[in-house]
Amino acid sequence: MPGDGVGKDVMDATRVVLDALKLDAEYVHGDIGWEFWRTEGDALPQRTVDLLHSVRAAMFGAITSKPVKAAEAELVPELRGKGLVYRSPIVRMRQMFDLYICLRPCKAYPGNPLNYKEGIDLTVFRENTEDLYSGVEFNPVPGELAAALTGLSKPFAPFAKLPGDQYAVSCKVNTRKGSERIARAAFEYAARSGRKKVTVVHKANVVRATDGLFLDEARRVGKDFPGIAFDEANVDAICMWLLKNPHAYEVLVAPNLYGDIISDLAAQMVGGLGFACSGNIGADLAVFEPSHGSAPKYAGQNKVNPLATILAAKMMLDWLGEKAMAERVERAVAAVIEEGKTRTYDMGGSSTTLEMGEAVARAL
Ligand code: IPM
Ligand code: MG
Repeated sequence: MPGDGVGKDVMDATRVVLDALKLDAEYVHGDIGWEFWRTEGDALPQRTVDLLHSVRAAMFGAITSKPVKAAEAELVPELRGKGLVYRSPIVRMRQMFDLYICLRPCKAYPGNPLNYKEGIDLTVFRENTEDLYSGVEFNPVPGELAAALTGLSKPFAPFAKLPGDQYAVSCKVNTRKGSERIARAAFEYAARSGRKKVTVVHKANVVRATDGLFLDEARRVGKDFPGIAFDEANVDAICMWLLKNPHAYEVLVAPNLYGDIISDLAAQMVGGLGFACSGNIGADLAVFEPSHGSAPKYAGQNKVNPLATILAAKMMLDWLGEKAMAERVERAVAAVIEEGKTRTYDMGGSSTTLEMGEAVARAL
């Protein structure tokens, strides 16, 4: 699913690498993206959902996303005014297929001129289906909800008299199950990969109900892993500490929104979005993607760095059990970076997207 913007460019370059590996797979194309929103009113058409039910794993490029009103304005005239609401397809896929782990490795490959510091090697586990991404949101706020909250919550009093269109409510919903399973995934990964510490990111001193529950569950899981140090940090503080001392961290686990934020911070420390890859992983399906957006201004220019997508393909190979191929891809990426001859514009060079893909393919 290349999507739109630069999604097609980075996917084409990644395909060069997968083809050179001779991965024994059948590739099927999935329609997704802005074009399908505009013309069909759905950026993730049902045929693509059906297709996802039939595959082992998927790769996703990028898609443009716009705020609700701007999105509605771009619909073809026949579809306007029908109450269609744009919701990010990647967020929908994560929820629809219960892809509850968002795995985001951030590694400073030696020789990358964009490294903030050498030797950084962080892995973020982001809860991927709930929290402030629940989609339970109200703008305007219906009277029934205001009435219920007036009866149930003292701190709601200052808002109770506002007309519904003068405020908005987004519900942060965190479940025990969701919190437990992401914490377990992080600890299991740490145990498997010889990491010594897991840091749980939260804001439980203020956001007591939801983050409190998340932290409780993580602490409980931590007890099952006596060999791994349990560490916890407030989300604001970790932003400072990560910058100050990135080598002190190995595995970070966070609820959805904090995970979204700290993974961008961690990505920037290892070269920025051109290097940041994600796996959205569930029990039956996994979708791998570069963490960057669609960068419409570079679309079709064969300019952006495909390494994030190539590293996402490496994660896909791992998930498929093709460990040897995954290792070859990572070693090839590391070699190309270290050699420094092929560099895209973000790395200060002038190589194209495709040239980067070909360089990795040659280095396999
Ligand atoms: C990410 C992105 C998405 C998110 C956007 C595109 C909806 O920022 O994958 O981190 O917020 O999860
Ligand atoms: Mg993000």
